[in-house]
Amino acid sequence: MSAVSVQTDVLVVGAGAMGSGIAQVAALAGHRVFLADTSAEAVEKGCAAIAASLREQVSKGRLDAARAESTIARIHGIDKLADARTATLAIEAIVERLDVKRALFFELESTLPEQAILASNTSSLSITALTAGLSRPERVVGMHFFNPAPRMKLVEVVSGLATDADVADTVFATAVAWGKVAVHVVSSPGFIVNRVARPFYAEAQRVLAERAAKPATLDAAMRDCCGFPMGPFELMDFIGHDVNFAVTRSVFDACFGDRRYEPSLFQQELVAAGRLGRKSGRGVYDYRAGAIPPRP
Ligand code: NAI
Repeated sequence: MSAVSVQTDVLVVGAGAMGSGIAQVAALAGHRVFLADTSAEAVEKGCAAIAASLREQVSKGRLDAARAESTIARIHGIDKLADARTATLAIEAIVERLDVKRALFFELESTLPEQAILASNTSSLSITALTAGLSRPERVVGMHFFNPAPRMKLVEVVSGLATDADVADTVFATAVAWGKVAVHVVSSPGFIVNRVARPFYAEAQRVLAERAAKPATLDAAMRDCCGFPMGPFELMDFIGHDVNFAVTRSVFDACFGDRRYEPSLFQQELVAAGRLGRKSGRGVYDYRAGAIPPRP
């Protein structure tokens, strides 16, 4: 099975951390990309972040300047999905809520060409549940990138009960053509990586609740001595506590309340306080004075 052709227009919905990263990856691979969001400001910020990221690559000698500029020129911020009517691959990276994503898939189905592949970057929601009620559920598939999408290699290609095997294979080949390492997964709570990573976050929060160690001590131990690129608290701050908490709740619910995946009250409080991590300036750590978390 081959990848979608480079002539394929790609629509990315959600211009936050993940959507802008995915748009960058697709445009760098040569596609014309439409970037949409309910917030015009998010589209503007997303496009600016992509341009800054590509120009930084140029300044570091990792990317040719002409290629960076032509990539930037291929990305079009749009304010309504109808402006992306030519897209035959759509990837959504909007808020991690089943009801909101389902409403979007209904809209995509009625806006894009019949043959369009509709992909979700969901971290944890059931692809089967996302497709319920759609007239063409066989064209819906998970295309789960990791954060930051331009740098992280893995893409989980997730099949729901209705997903056509050819659609999953095309998305797999497309991820590979975009320079990624793809794996096929059957839709299950948290798929592979987020499922296996749950105890990493949960146990760290239990250690904190027991006052056994401070976050910076625990992060340093895991990062500097155990080979993890980031400790659990830095990583949750990087992912965003709103996203991480939503993923934990979704895995917990999907596993019928299995206590191993129980969400933490600590993280619920951070979300309630708007302390979402790096993106809001404060999470477990305070980034307002600079971007480096404190050392133990
Ligand atoms: P984010 O909060 O940075 O961005 C989400 C964007 O979606 C916002 O700009 C928001 O305005 C927009 N949005 C919300 N509802 C919308 C709608 N109905 N239509 C259009 N735009 C809408 O979130 P982030 O981190 O980019 O996550 C997005 C998705 O990617 C979630 O499903 C998340 O689970 C998944 N994901 C997140 C990762 C992470 O580390 N943050 C890693 C991999 C997947």
